[in-house]
Amino acid sequence: MSVLSTSLGSQGLPAVGQSFDLTPWSQGHLARVEQALSQWVGHGAPAGLGDAMRYAVLDGGKRLRPLLVLAAYEAVGSARGASVAVSVGDAATRAACAVELIHAYSLVHDDMPCMDNDVLRRGKPTVHVQFGEAQALLAGDALQAFAFELLTPDEDVAASAPAIAASTQAALCRLLARAAGSAGMAGGQAIDLASVGTALTEDQLRHMHRLKTGALLQGSVLMGAVCGQAEVGAYQALSDYGAAMGLAFQVVDDILDVVADSATLGKTAGKDAAADKPTYVSLLGLTRAQAYAQDLLGEAQAALVRSSLPDTRALAALADMVVNRSF
Ligand code: IPE
Ligand code: IPE
Ligand code: MG
Ligand code: MG
Ligand code: MG
Repeated sequence: MSVLSTSLGSQGLPAVGQSFDLTPWSQGHLARVEQALSQWVGHGAPAGLGDAMRYAVLDGGKRLRPLLVLAAYEAVGSARGASVAVSVGDAATRAACAVELIHAYSLVHDDMPCMDNDVLRRGKPTVHVQFGEAQALLAGDALQAFAFELLTPDEDVAASAPAIAASTQAALCRLLARAAGSAGMAGGQAIDLASVGTALTEDQLRHMHRLKTGALLQGSVLMGAVCGQAEVGAYQALSDYGAAMGLAFQVVDDILDVVADSATLGKTAGKDAAADKPTYVSLLGLTRAQAYAQDLLGEAQAALVRSSLPDTRALAALADMVVNRSF
């Protein structure tokens, strides 16, 4: 996870003006998310389905979306002087896992022959290569459904309060559904498929990227904010942060498809040009695409300053990592 070792300040707009090492911050969170996913995903599913679900989710990926949920939750908590400690079972951990399940499902389907037809994901054969197309389709379906089940836990009759307040459950489900559905990831994927071989305008490309990738990243931030019960002003600023960072993420994904190799990415490099997909690199060229990603990083960092939250260092470092990553 060396990619997570970063520091603030590349745009001169650090939220608190001091260096911050993301690696120690993220280690505990990553371990807890990993433990929770392993504990929760795919158990009791019939006829190989559980194996396909676990293969799709466990042992891989940067886990950026869970980290965004937890960083936003902590940033909001910092406004109350709270030193927040999340544990497996808490709303924030459930939200972190739920977004990762939606993301993992989107990757399984994105890689299928009817979409991008990829054979390599997270350094392993893709789910349909390993388990067959029908099982990959079902694993994606089941992961999506399970994400919402995680957000609506059973009442613990022995506990004095519900694991997640009913109003928070509803807000989290709505945010995740919107980010994943036709106004978000699935809608963006539909535009992506319809755009093969066409030249999109910059506005059209931005719209596609905001939907297919940005929406779930922004949704991750907002779910963390909801778990932390953010005030309206901070919520809006975090929404702006999520929009800029989420778009930057896909701009950089387009760039990495051109400049990185498959071994580094853990997925097939050079696919976009081979499939004649419109990307920021095909539209603007490499240099202008890289400059645009840096502009978006500046926008994201400025939104964090606007949030007036006392400690947004982890969110700032995550945005920096999104834009300056090498895989
Ligand atoms: C890849 O996302 C798919 C896109 C949305 C571009 P990530 O780069 O976050 O994939 P993992 O989770 O690290 O494998
Ligand atoms: C996929 O975008 C976005 C998703 C919703 C999964 P890409 O097709 O560019 O993602 P990669 O490059 O295969 O990871
Ligand atoms: Mg795709
Ligand atoms: Mg793809
Ligand atoms: Mg890509």
